[in-house]
Amino acid sequence: MSKLSELAVNGGDKAVGFAFKGREQFGEEEKTAVMELFDESIRSGNAFGYNGPQEEAFGREFAAFMGGGWADGVNSGTNAVYVALRALELPPFSEVVVSAVTDPGGIMPIVMLGCIPMVADTMPGSYNIGPEQVEAVITPRTRAIVVAHIGGEPADIEGIMKVAAKYNLPVVEDCAQSHGAAVNGRKVGSFGTYGAFSLMFGKHFCTGGQGGAVFCGNEDDYWRERRAADRGKPFNLPGHTNSIPAINCNLDELGAVIGRVQLRKLPSIIARKQKFVQMLKDRGIGELAGIEIPEIRPGVEHVYWWWRLSVNADKLTVGKEEYCAALLAEGVLLNPNYSAAMPFTFEWFQDRPNKFPWNNPEYKGNPAIEFECPNAKAAMTRHFNLVIHESWSEKEADAIIAAFKKVDEAYRDR
Ligand SMILES: Cc1ncc(COP(=O)(O)O)c(C=O)c1O
Repeated sequence: MSKLSELAVNGGDKAVGFAFKGREQFGEEEKTAVMELFDESIRSGNAFGYNGPQEEAFGREFAAFMGGGWADGVNSGTNAVYVALRALELPPFSEVVVSAVTDPGGIMPIVMLGCIPMVADTMPGSYNIGPEQVEAVITPRTRAIVVAHIGGEPADIEGIMKVAAKYNLPVVEDCAQSHGAAVNGRKVGSFGTYGAFSLMFGKHFCTGGQGGAVFCGNEDDYWRERRAADRGKPFNLPGHTNSIPAINCNLDELGAVIGRVQLRKLPSIIARKQKFVQMLKDRGIGELAGIEIPEIRPGVEHVYWWWRLSVNADKLTVGKEEYCAALLAEGVLLNPNYSAAMPFTFEWFQDRPNKFPWNNPEYKGNPAIEFECPNAKAAMTRHFNLVIHESWSEKEADAIIAAFKKVDEAYRDR
């Protein structure tokens, strides 16, 4: 039986005796592709630019990965959400439903477009919003829904699409954390009018340091999105002048060439993340007193950007914070508290009635409405996010399990 004094948090030796390796996202393949782009540029005397053959190929290949449709590279996940919403041409002061748990980049574009975010709570025990929670914040002023699929785990997008159909609302799926995740065999991002993806370096796959993509299943929607992503240029329109006011959110050829190589690796990245989670399950992580593995809804394919786990403090002598602090001290990589992903609780969102767009007399809703989101807050209290890298194998799984067993043993309530 491990004693409290043996825990690293109390001065004992760490269970993980080595430094975890990084994700190893980049290899010679990306380097070669980038070098070829430069070689061609030097040979021809022309700098590589944007909206060129690499991006065209990237869009085609990403759309094929998604199961068919159209895709455009953009320069961040935030701008992917922005461009998708801009393409919908929402009237100012429209209310837009958004997830309680999301990155700031998933909600701020709504306000930047002069629209009003209406924050839907998560489903009980989840980081994801559900149909009931979406419907609860719909009003006669609602014009769109932005659904985030958090941490690699798809939201109940089929249920949310039914609510959207009932109120005739377009849906933007924010897939920044869930590339390749699926519901009943269909990829997230392909249910709504648009799927918005972040392709910055920390995501499943990337176009370099920053990047993003917008996917859609309809060609007219694609051209609308292209115009919205590039200052309203009249793509696929008869006119020669810019068609709508919009900003420049273009990806460039350098990002596209990296993204094409990375996209080829994506299925393997997903498979290796899923395999690593299975290794932890096989080694008994779910049988520990303090750990509960959240149930995954049937038909859902989770791609584990990280793994959301729940701490059962009733079976422990300590709470989640202490349990996670002890795991961190043993050398396990985890985020003990994901409340950094509740942007509606942040300073920028406070005092709304006195800020644009809420304070504009054209907005006819209640600018002082509060979003309590008890399920989201409860989920933050119980859960932590375990880091899952696709580069890890048995050695890392053994070390992580040894650390969990040591901490769980010491804190188990007997
Ligand atoms: C759910 C969600 N939406 C949007 C974004 C913004 O993406 P980016 O950082 O590429 O702008 C992120 C980034 O992590 C995210 O997790």
